[in-house]
Amino acid sequence: MNTGSDQSNQRTGARSTIAGIAALAMLFVFAPALRAAPEAVSPGTGLHMDPAKVVGSGKCAECHKAEDNAWQHTHHFATFTALPKEKRAKEIADAMGLEGGIRRNGTCLNCHFTVQNKEGAATPVAGVSCESCHGAAKDWLTLHNDYGQGKTRETESADHKKKRHDDADATGMIRKDRVSLIAANCYSCHTVPNQDLVNKGGHKAGSDLELVAWSQGEVRHNYLVNQAKNAVETPQRKRVLYVVGQATDLEFSLRGAQKITEKGAYRDAMLARVRNATTKLDEVLKKVKIAEYDQVLAGIPRAENGQLKLSKDLLAALPDKLAAASQAFVASNDGAALDGVDELLPKDAKGSAQP
Ligand code: HEC
Ligand code: HEC
Ligand code: HEC
Ligand code: HEC
Repeated sequence: MNTGSDQSNQRTGARSTIAGIAALAMLFVFAPALRAAPEAVSPGTGLHMDPAKVVGSGKCAECHKAEDNAWQHTHHFATFTALPKEKRAKEIADAMGLEGGIRRNGTCLNCHFTVQNKEGAATPVAGVSCESCHGAAKDWLTLHNDYGQGKTRETESADHKKKRHDDADATGMIRKDRVSLIAANCYSCHTVPNQDLVNKGGHKAGSDLELVAWSQGEVRHNYLVNQAKNAVETPQRKRVLYVVGQATDLEFSLRGAQKITEKGAYRDAMLARVRNATTKLDEVLKKVKIAEYDQVLAGIPRAENGQLKLSKDLLAALPDKLAAASQAFVASNDGAALDGVDELLPKDAKGSAQP
């Protein structure tokens, strides 16, 4: 089963004046779709999960019971049984000419399901699961919680902890600290960089995902400190999530726009996503100065309405630059100095969190 093919970590988005859009569309008709550098999203993300490295959520639940319960109350969990029964799903699959059901189709599997090797056969085992978001776990499962011989969380040395985190990261774990990777992972599914799926299949081009609202509602499961209480994120972390979310939205919209080769719903939606994300990121950068993003955006030609003037070269280069900026920003920022962002933070979360 193919879970890593034309999937989604590649996207583009672009935009400008009306004339600019037309020119761009022409450009795309003749240009082969450009492929973004694969390192934009780590190999640990849901999109590129190797079924041989997936251990399944049952393993995680052995220790993370409260997290597992929270997950079972989400759309990510429900989609496993709900999606195959949805009339819309069959309509999309039919319009795409896909045979054999959506759980057998690599295109749908990549974003809607978790695929695990079972007795040699790649088998869909869940919807969007723990490992879709934290990385396929085979190589980090036993080391991510290993405090060292005879040690506990309290007595583990700082050096050991750092090495434990580094080892987990190196083996594909997407931990809480890695906010730019978390964001890239969400947007790699929630922006749909597949022109046929949208134009022929009638699938949405993506979600209206804003990282704070969408991670702090039904998705939230912060039980590490206390399994009885789902902790609310600090204002500092929310600011970082918000800023990185907007930059990553632009990054993935651009990756989606990069794949435009024809007129239609896909092109319209991707260009609209780029416009919207540009406006949102500009809004952030008016409130707070963030050198990493200011540098990336400096010098890019703008149309009179403030939108980016898109060119093939810009679409090819900008997403990776934004990804690098997000990584650098996260590494050097804990959000303490970003109080200017507070008034932009969403009032409501998407869905309700478990207690
Ligand atoms: C044997 C028990 C055990 C199993 C099984 C287990 N975990 Fe953990 N996990 C822990 C412990 C303990 C911690 C806290 C580690 C610490 O103190 O840094 C943790 C921490 C985490 C964290 C937070 C790490 C960070 O730095 O942000 C994530 C995410 C996580 N586990 C995901 C998973 C997933 C996904 C699975 C299944 C694939 C899993 N765990 C299986 C015990 C376990
Ligand atoms: C790039 C990731 C991606 C791929 C590939 C993908 N989906 Fe989706 N799909 C999503 C996301 C994200 C949503 C939720 C959209 C929202 O926020 O409303 C969704 C929603 C849906 C919905 C419910 C919304 C609607 O349009 O009515 C259906 C049905 C669906 N997908 C079917 C499919 C089928 C069938 C396939 C395979 C042919 C497929 N999807 C492939 C990401 C994807
Ligand atoms: C592997 C792909 C994938 C990843 C990674 C992913 N999602 Fe989703 N998400 C989906 C799909 C598909 C749906 C639609 C499920 C359905 O209802 O059929 C969805 C639905 C949701 C919903 C429910 C939306 C509603 O309509 O109420 C929220 C909230 C959400 N995702 C947030 C997130 C956040 C935040 C992240 C990153 C931390 C994330 N997702 C990562 C694929 C993904
Ligand atoms: C939609 C993506 C997604 C899914 C599915 C998901 N997680 Fe997470 N997880 C996250 C994000 C994002 C964070 C960081 C939370 C934040 O910033 O509020 C996180 C944080 C965690 C933490 C650290 C929480 C803390 O208290 O600090 C653990 C442990 C964890 N997840 C385990 C799991 C397990 C186990 C599952 C499956 C039962 C799971 N996650 C499913 C995205 C996801």
